[in-house]
Amino acid sequence: MKILLNEKALNEGVERLADEINETYGDKPLTIVGVLTGSVILMADLIRKLKMPLRVGVVQTSSYEGTERGALTINSEMMLDIADRDVLLIDDIFDTGNTLEEVTQLMKGLGPTSLRSAVLLLKTGRQLVDWKPEFVAFDIPDEFVVGYGLDFNDEFRNLPYLACLEPADIQGFTEV
Ligand code: IMP
Ligand code: MG
Repeated sequence: MKILLNEKALNEGVERLADEINETYGDKPLTIVGVLTGSVILMADLIRKLKMPLRVGVVQTSSYEGTERGALTINSEMMLDIADRDVLLIDDIFDTGNTLEEVTQLMKGLGPTSLRSAVLLLKTGRQLVDWKPEFVAFDIPDEFVVGYGLDFNDEFRNLPYLACLEPADIQGFTEV
């Protein structure tokens, strides 16, 4: 696997995100909603760098089967009450944008005071929606990446770096 972002680069990216978020919200209380499962590592690292009073909740979505997209499902049973709150959605990657678009639509109906999103990665040239997250740590090329929370068939989320999954890796994986 080719390493795209090593631990130091990832940490600097998360630091940048945190600075921008701290600057935007100041001391205002914030409700974070992490999109599981890909955002777990980013959430853990990011929320410890945020300075305002925080509530943390999650929604779960899944859309990929291997490297192919399947139907999107959203499970919001574990989400906090977000009515009249400033809300920040956190996800690992903005690819087509469909996932955050659907979660955003769902959440807008619940009456938040404001709703923004923060992602670690934005895959260049892939978006099918006409907006982008307010906070983006890295723009990356159109390659399938794993590590730092991102998976291939639920594996590799624990890699401390971000790597490009190459055809040989996928082949090796499916043959095992
Ligand atoms: P979107 O709905 O196309 O924006 O895709 C967002 C979701 O797809 C992310 O939350 C990821 O879970 C997953 N995803 C998109 N691209 C990749 C990738 O390169 N590697 C692993 N997961 C990905
Ligand atoms: Mg995800």
